[in-house]
Amino acid sequence: MSRSFSCVIADNADHFADLAARCFVDILETIPQPLVTLPTGLTPQGFYQALIRDYAHRHDLWASACFVALDEYMCLPADDERLFGAWLTRACLDPLRIENRQFFQSDAPPHAEVTRMERFLAENGPLDIAVLGLGANGHIAFNEPGTAFDKGVHLMELTPASIAANALYWGSADRVPQRGITMGLADLIQARHTLLLVTGAAKAPVLRAALQGPVTTDMPASYLQTIKNVTILADRDAASLLT
Ligand code: PGA
Repeated sequence: MSRSFSCVIADNADHFADLAARCFVDILETIPQPLVTLPTGLTPQGFYQALIRDYAHRHDLWASACFVALDEYMCLPADDERLFGAWLTRACLDPLRIENRQFFQSDAPPHAEVTRMERFLAENGPLDIAVLGLGANGHIAFNEPGTAFDKGVHLMELTPASIAANALYWGSADRVPQRGITMGLADLIQARHTLLLVTGAAKAPVLRAALQGPVTTDMPASYLQTIKNVTILADRDAASLLT
């Protein structure tokens, strides 16, 4: 288990969103110019709404923060509505007026984009706060089972599991792009603070495996056991198998 690992458990969806927003802001307030990455997905939606409702007026926080993308689909045009960057822009970057944004460019040559983002992280990293979701198979961003813990920014082909999970967002599997780019676990391991957001009974087995099972690349999220300053924000259902 990590040296300063805490688990905050919410009673219901509203409580989860409020706790997550409070926890994030509490960390943000301690860092003068935080470099922050944020997740897409269904889990963080209430969190973003709570941030907008309760903290949008905190221009001091948002003006000093720099957002850097966690992952993205590749080989899509810059105006494609499925881009994670577009999603986050709608969900929180525009409403909170976080102006300093470093997206992956989906329409750039993929290998050049890896180099560009690696350079950005080398010059501006490490992350101050990584807010993350947990995949049903233990993935973190597009780091699927089998990804080495020492891998940095990289390209990947979406696995059948990722395509199935992403089909929920876009209506059908054939609307899910096939190629992705992601920060690697080597980038996330260096984050000064990590918040993992997990909800729902379906995630209970994977949350338990990630936090209380072996540390192994078969379960990418198990790297969380090896780093400092990890906060798990879970609802009762997701936390139900933790001991
Ligand atoms: P979800 O996605 O929040 O939609 O469950 C989490 C993830 O796959 O990272």
